[in-house]
Amino acid sequence: MPQRPYVIDEMISAKAIAARVEALAKDITNAYRETDKLIVVGLLRGSFVFIADLVREIDLPVEVDFLEASSYGNAMESSREVRILKDLRGEIAGKDVLVVEDIVDTGFTLHHVVNLLKSRGPKRLEVCALLDKPSRREVKIKATWTGFEIPDEFVVGYGIDFAQRNRNLPHIGKVRFTDETAEA
Ligand code: PRP
Repeated sequence: MPQRPYVIDEMISAKAIAARVEALAKDITNAYRETDKLIVVGLLRGSFVFIADLVREIDLPVEVDFLEASSYGNAMESSREVRILKDLRGEIAGKDVLVVEDIVDTGFTLHHVVNLLKSRGPKRLEVCALLDKPSRREVKIKATWTGFEIPDEFVVGYGIDFAQRNRNLPHIGKVRFTDETAEA
């Protein structure tokens, strides 16, 4: 299917993201200050930019691992079926874990991943999500820390894609289709 034409309008600047990431990292450092090692789990692919910035602001001994989950593929609607495409390399039983997610939309991805990881018996498991779209939620789940609550807009950038493109934008933008006709 041919790609509809669109433009991207800036929604959250790179500077605003950096300031929020710094504040989130301070809260996380404080919350886990007793730990001897924090395992930070990035959900691929969308979280790869956020986790890179976040871990560099966390002032704790940190280990980084990744899990790849997918429910959208190239579609704009969630399939509501979460597939684990790549599992963690390390064990998390008895350990302090922080899951890092780029965006919580319907909540299916995070709900599935949190249940999976909790079944492995971590000592403590919390979630940090950069973006939250609470108006879209279909399952009950909330991150411990959220960067920005946003309205129901199609967002891209800072790791988030539209049909695998635009992950490399330094800011969060919203997609505006330019072939939409104005309603009478
Ligand atoms: C996106 C995003 C979240 C998830 C959120 O992942 O990165 O993981 O969807 O949506 P949900 O709350 O409705 O489940 P996607 O499946 O597009 O994979 P990606 O991270 O590789 O882009």
